[in-house]
Amino acid sequence: MAVTESSTKVVLGGTRGGPDVATLRQDRWWLQPVVTVSVLTAFVIYSTWAAFQNKYYYVGANVHRDLISPFYSPCLASNCVPGSKVGFAFSGWALSPALLILIFPLGFRLTCYYYRRSYYRAFWWSPPACAVSDAHASYTGETRFPLIMQNLHRYFFFAGLIFNTLLTYDAIRAFHQPGLGWGVTVGTIVLLVNAALLWLYSLSCHACRHLCGGQVKSFSKHPIRYRFWKFLTPLNAKHMNFAWASLIFVALTDVYVRLVASGVFSDYKIF
Ligand code: FES
Repeated sequence: MAVTESSTKVVLGGTRGGPDVATLRQDRWWLQPVVTVSVLTAFVIYSTWAAFQNKYYYVGANVHRDLISPFYSPCLASNCVPGSKVGFAFSGWALSPALLILIFPLGFRLTCYYYRRSYYRAFWWSPPACAVSDAHASYTGETRFPLIMQNLHRYFFFAGLIFNTLLTYDAIRAFHQPGLGWGVTVGTIVLLVNAALLWLYSLSCHACRHLCGGQVKSFSKHPIRYRFWKFLTPLNAKHMNFAWASLIFVALTDVYVRLVASGVFSDYKIF
């Protein structure tokens, strides 16, 4: 399509244009940014509080359970509560063990292509919605510090895979109830659903899809990559759904473990 004179060209480092009025839209375009700001702010406040609380993150053998919060797994510090530690531990770490690991899942989410779109729009109004004026006069893209760091996303993706594997291991381990044998409780289901949603979030990642099918000139010469790409493409179309579902559920999983660990209620045994 030919670019007409009335089109607004987006030039890196240039000025962003638009009509004199902020928008001609009359629908509730502001609703999505408001929801995004509310949910992300609530998550950041809760996860920060939970990470610094440094207690009630593990339900152990004294109540025949093995449930650990995803915010604290793997528990790598020597001050982790008994039973929650993995084989290796940093000795002398005096702060919350969650602070040793949260940079990886948070970095993965912060640099996610979908979340970038959401928080650039919702927090920076850059622009807040389609056909609504940008709040900024210029646009430099992600070409300089700090936003150039968004390119680390593909590396955080690999770190995310390691965490997904560990959280899946936690979920499987939770089916073994110390002193009672194998069984299913609400807690095991919560941990399992959490791990499944995190896998769906990672496998639907744009970087993951590119890794499998990107830079391939002929799929017929790469049948295995083609199969992966074909499997991942429908997941990729639902990346936004998995991003929100996994974000909310990981917080709910921490809430569940925290309430059981603090004695508010006990983990119900299904069989
Ligand atoms: S694009 Fe969202 S996790 Fe990679």
